[in-house]
Amino acid sequence: MKIGILTSGGDCPALNAVIRGFAKYAYNNIADVEIYGIADGYGGLINGEYKKMEPDDFSGILNVGGTILGTSRQPFKKMTVEENNSTKIEKMKRNYKKMGLDALLTLGGAGTHKSAALLSAEGLNIVGLPKTIDNDIFGTDVTFGFYSAVDVATECIDRVHTTAASHGRTMLVEIMGNKVGWLTLYAGVAGGADIILLPEIPFDTATVCRKVLERAEAGKAFSIIAIAEGALEKSEAGLKKKERAQKRGETGDVTATNRLAREINKRTGVDTRVVVPGHIQRGGSPSALDRALSTEVGAYAGFLCKERLFGTTVAIRGDKITHNKIEDIAGRTKWVPLDHPMIASARRIGVSFGDGL
Ligand code: F6P
Repeated sequence: MKIGILTSGGDCPALNAVIRGFAKYAYNNIADVEIYGIADGYGGLINGEYKKMEPDDFSGILNVGGTILGTSRQPFKKMTVEENNSTKIEKMKRNYKKMGLDALLTLGGAGTHKSAALLSAEGLNIVGLPKTIDNDIFGTDVTFGFYSAVDVATECIDRVHTTAASHGRTMLVEIMGNKVGWLTLYAGVAGGADIILLPEIPFDTATVCRKVLERAEAGKAFSIIAIAEGALEKSEAGLKKKERAQKRGETGDVTATNRLAREINKRTGVDTRVVVPGHIQRGGSPSALDRALSTEVGAYAGFLCKERLFGTTVAIRGDKITHNKIEDIAGRTKWVPLDHPMIASARRIGVSFGDGL
């Protein structure tokens, strides 16, 4: 059996752990298996850049961050656009056939899954694997990379905490997640943030300021705000993405964070600072939990190949590893539900979500 494997979209810790888990399963359980590493995500499949891998290629990578295969972003919207008499999807189909593949493993996030569903509909044998620090893939409780990013983002909040306390400042830590707030919610709670702002709960600036002042009046001169990259002020919630970007552009802002920091300073007089850990959250070694999870996910993808259960993507539900049909989950987003128990618990211990509840 010839199996191609690619990693697509933004990287994350644990991609290599998944690749290794899959390879070890495949070499041990699939007769005459050959694994082909495709370079730089869908880009490599489009351009026919790949190489036959050997068992040794998968050794010593369990705890190594990034991806040994390389990755790139290939926007889904452009997959079916004709360029020089051919679309990217057609090129990928041609190269899959030319390579003589029996299956293709696509490790990626939401965009990767949309393209994978398209390839599956075109007759390619696809097994998807849910990767992203954002944890927003529909149909799985968790994605690999998420727990490692939670650890890193929590460590950032911890470090900000001590300096905020020394200076009596309000510090805003902008956590990755341009659409969903899973990472901000978990890292915010784990880091003991006083205010947690998620894209799913548009915030009211006055409410945030009130919380900062209440803390100051209660003798806590500092406040920690964990704010998602995609957090929205209530007044922005009704705007289309383009309109929002235009409005923010007028003040030179891309996210809501800097504007909120300025407003807090103006309205409360409290000194504010913004910290953006950015891609640090995607770099470095996967956590122990992510390594274990990813080994399981990779091995299960091997099992799906062996059983020829294609057009699927691996999922984790409770303590079970399972799979979904790729067409059932592609294009859907797993938002943080407003009644999520973590939100309810945080509210009960006095965390504000900036909505006045
Ligand atoms: O999807 C993962 C993610 O890290 C998001 O949280 C973030 O908004 C985006 O990727 C950043 O993308 P890039 O690496 O292309 O800057």
